[in-house]
Amino acid sequence: MADKRILITGGAGFVGVHLARRLIDNGDEVVLLDDFSRGRDDAELAELTARDAITTVTGDITDAAIYERLGKGFDQVYHLAAVIGVRHVMERPHDVVRINAVGTLNLLDWYADGGANAFLFASTSEAYAWTKQVMNIPTPTPEDVPLALTDIKNPRSSYAGSKIFGELATTQYGEMYKKPYAIVRFHNVYGPRMGWDHVIPELHERARGGENPLTVYSADHSRAFCYIGDAIDGITAAIDVATDGGPCGTYNIGNDDEEITMGDLATRLLATADIDAGIQPLEAKHDPIKRRCPDVSRARADLGYAPKVDLDEGLKRTLAWYDDHPRPT
Ligand SMILES: NC(=O)c1ccc[n+]([C@@H]2O[C@H](COP(=O)([O-])OP(=O)(O)OC[C@H]3O[C@@H](n4cnc5c(N)ncnc54)[C@H](O)[C@@H]3O)[C@@H](O)[C@H]2O)c1
Repeated sequence: MADKRILITGGAGFVGVHLARRLIDNGDEVVLLDDFSRGRDDAELAELTARDAITTVTGDITDAAIYERLGKGFDQVYHLAAVIGVRHVMERPHDVVRINAVGTLNLLDWYADGGANAFLFASTSEAYAWTKQVMNIPTPTPEDVPLALTDIKNPRSSYAGSKIFGELATTQYGEMYKKPYAIVRFHNVYGPRMGWDHVIPELHERARGGENPLTVYSADHSRAFCYIGDAIDGITAAIDVATDGGPCGTYNIGNDDEEITMGDLATRLLATADIDAGIQPLEAKHDPIKRRCPDVSRARADLGYAPKVDLDEGLKRTLAWYDDHPRPT
């Protein structure tokens, strides 16, 4: 008998596959819902879906008919599906707003109607990035800072706005229906199979391709990088604690021990990959926020969250995976 029956939306994506593997290894039964707009039907997904405890449903969270196919009575849902990435945000911000907002509302209606007992919403540090530009909020940043949008004509605000909306909707549905819920704000989660458009695989790809000096945008900006295994510890604890009658609320998921500038990240990456190259620092392209780092003390206190994989070890595991998996052509 499976321990829990769990739905993961966006289950073929980066976080989704790592999460699914953890859950089935723990004895849970998992349904992955994905429209494969970004998630890949690759060997790792195939290896997972070959296991009895996992089923894949191909579908779009904005399509109301998909909820009939899913049925009801899941113990938990991890809502990870979203349109993300700078390219989508800059080229089709209206779709970012529509898909992220409508999909989340559909899923919350399904949850409220008995689809699942507990709901986890995947948010982001972007939710407070705009606040940081206009208010003097602390860094490392706690969860309870005001969430602001300061320039709604800017396409970049589409992603942050859709995530703020998702946090609001999840909270109000959870409170109104008196059901367990959790919101997690991911901060620069990285690891194997994260795609090829994030900073770590992208720097690695160019460095392996012989770029010297290696161009590093926003070299003086700092971020805190969190290994995927630690992020999975945090999100599973957040929904389990809420399910077991503990606090429902918002948690930063990141690694406050690992704040580093992009320039230093590139240097560490070159050393880990044993590549002899220099660095060419350049101005920021899209992101005006110089420093971003989570305060994870709430997650430590409520969830027993404690990031374990340091940047050197995390980079080693990640780059090894990318050495074996060049960008598909
Ligand atoms: N990885 C990070 O560092 C990070 C940081 C902040 C926030 N997040 C959030 O965490 C969640 C998961 O991120 P990820 O890195 O795994 O992203 P990802 O793009 O790898 O996964 C998202 C998945 O959602 C699917 N999807 C998109 N639109 C869909 C739709 N309409 N219906 C069904 N499926 C759809 C995609 O195909 C993809 O497989 C996202 O909500 C993202 O906003 C991640």
